[in-house]
Amino acid sequence: MTKSRLYIPSNETFDLATKKLADGDIVSFPTETVYGLGADATNSTAVAKIYAAKNRPSINPLIVHLSDAKKADLYVHINPTAQKLADNFWPGPFTMVLPLREQSGLSDLITAGLDTVAVRVPMNNVAHKLLQKFDGPIAAPSANKSGNISPTTAAHVDGEFGDELDMIIDGGACDKGLESTIVQIDESGITLLRPGNITPKDIEKVTGQAIQINDQPTDNPVAPGQLKSHYAPNTKMRLNAAKQGPAEAYLAFGHNSNTENSLNLSPSGDLVEAAANLFSMMRELDRLNLEAIAVAPIPNTGLGIAINDRLERAAAPRETKL
Ligand code: TXA
Ligand code: MG
Repeated sequence: MTKSRLYIPSNETFDLATKKLADGDIVSFPTETVYGLGADATNSTAVAKIYAAKNRPSINPLIVHLSDAKKADLYVHINPTAQKLADNFWPGPFTMVLPLREQSGLSDLITAGLDTVAVRVPMNNVAHKLLQKFDGPIAAPSANKSGNISPTTAAHVDGEFGDELDMIIDGGACDKGLESTIVQIDESGITLLRPGNITPKDIEKVTGQAIQINDQPTDNPVAPGQLKSHYAPNTKMRLNAAKQGPAEAYLAFGHNSNTENSLNLSPSGDLVEAAANLFSMMRELDRLNLEAIAVAPIPNTGLGIAINDRLERAAAPRETKL
């Protein structure tokens, strides 16, 4: 019998995972957003394994995960605005792109040659324990093959990598289900690079500053993380579909009737519930191999903006998929 690659969190599991990370291996772990594929952020050979496993272009930089907001000082320059945001949103589903410190000790592969680095302090208990025990920065993109849907369960991760990945810490389904909000902070202010659970309104409330939005999908891969086609299932997606076509699967929202081959993101129309269900339901409908996945209109307010962002990328033409 083959040994399971899924490990329930326990002292032995954390010991084994930290040993693997210290040895330069990759390990998948849950966060409150999506599952990450982690490696020691100071070890280039280990970080290279992430790019290889994901088939990720090396021009696309990685997020560095830390156990504690105080540790961020070691790697980035934190101005007063960034400090306020850290105080309010860390630990949590929030990532800041900040100026990289010289002598940070981070692998050059992480920044893909930029003079900034993305840092995040996750809230999920399993992620937090792993970071504490490892006692160092862990680089982790979402644990999916590049361009695919992000995983929100350990089984999704296993389905993406199979034999290529031998340790996944199974912390159950991710609470939030969408990748973290990403903002860049520099002399020009705060710029939103990827919408998520922490919304521009939340950020403006804390900082008193208007936030610039730069989350427009692009085909130009020098603007990292903003590729048009991303988070994509194999089945074509049809958005803002009021009705399900005869050969289509349907991803409903709110009071849509329950037809064959359909799933409802949130029967009560709750955007938080819809975000948590989005990726696993997209995966489930993808498996039906129908002509398309039609998706009900999602209100474009609050968390709906982040949901629509992921849906638009999932529906984008695939030539640009990296
Ligand atoms: O919720 C999340 O953020 C998850 C969990 C595992 O933490 N991680 C995640 O990582 O979504 P990834 O690699 O799938 O997405 C990170 C995005 C990428 O699109 C990357 O281009 C962008 O962040 N990014 C990373 N460093 C950057 C930088 N220095 N400047 C601009 N964008 C950056
Ligand atoms: Mg990703």
